[in-house]
Amino acid sequence: MMLDRMDTDEKSKLAIVVGSVRDGRFGPTVASWVASRAREHGGFDIDVVDLAGADIPLSLPAAPPKFAGDGYPRPEGMKAVTARLTAADAFIIVTPEYNRRR
Ligand SMILES: Cc1cc2nc3c(=O)[nH]c(=O)nc-3n(C[C@H](O)[C@H](O)[C@H](O)COP(=O)(O)O)c2cc1C
Repeated sequence: MMLDRMDTDEKSKLAIVVGSVRDGRFGPTVASWVASRAREHGGFDIDVVDLAGADIPLSLPAAPPKFAGDGYPRPEGMKAVTARLTAADAFIIVTPEYNRRR
């Protein structure tokens, strides 16, 4: 029988993704505030994932990994961040708004 997390003492893994990577960004400050609020909640194991720490290529194939299967390129620089996102049960993406059109 599969055990749901609700049936165990194991906490849900929450990934908080810092979506801004520009020089001088404010994103990490917001992300650490979000993490502190989530810690206060007490129900999560929290992983703050800073995309600036990953060597993500500027372009990837149009087909998502699910459809591309084994043919999908797995750049070395994405391995760690991919593993951390795969391990997460829930995500919060902290992202700024840039150049919104009216
Ligand atoms: C190039 C640029 C464009 C922006 N465009 C918008 C916008 O269209 N609407 C908005 O509400 N804020 C806009 N902002 C404000 C950013 O959302 C805000 O400064 C945010 O904190 C930036 O996040 P970051 O510092 O982590 O990159 C813009 C900021 C920059 C630098």
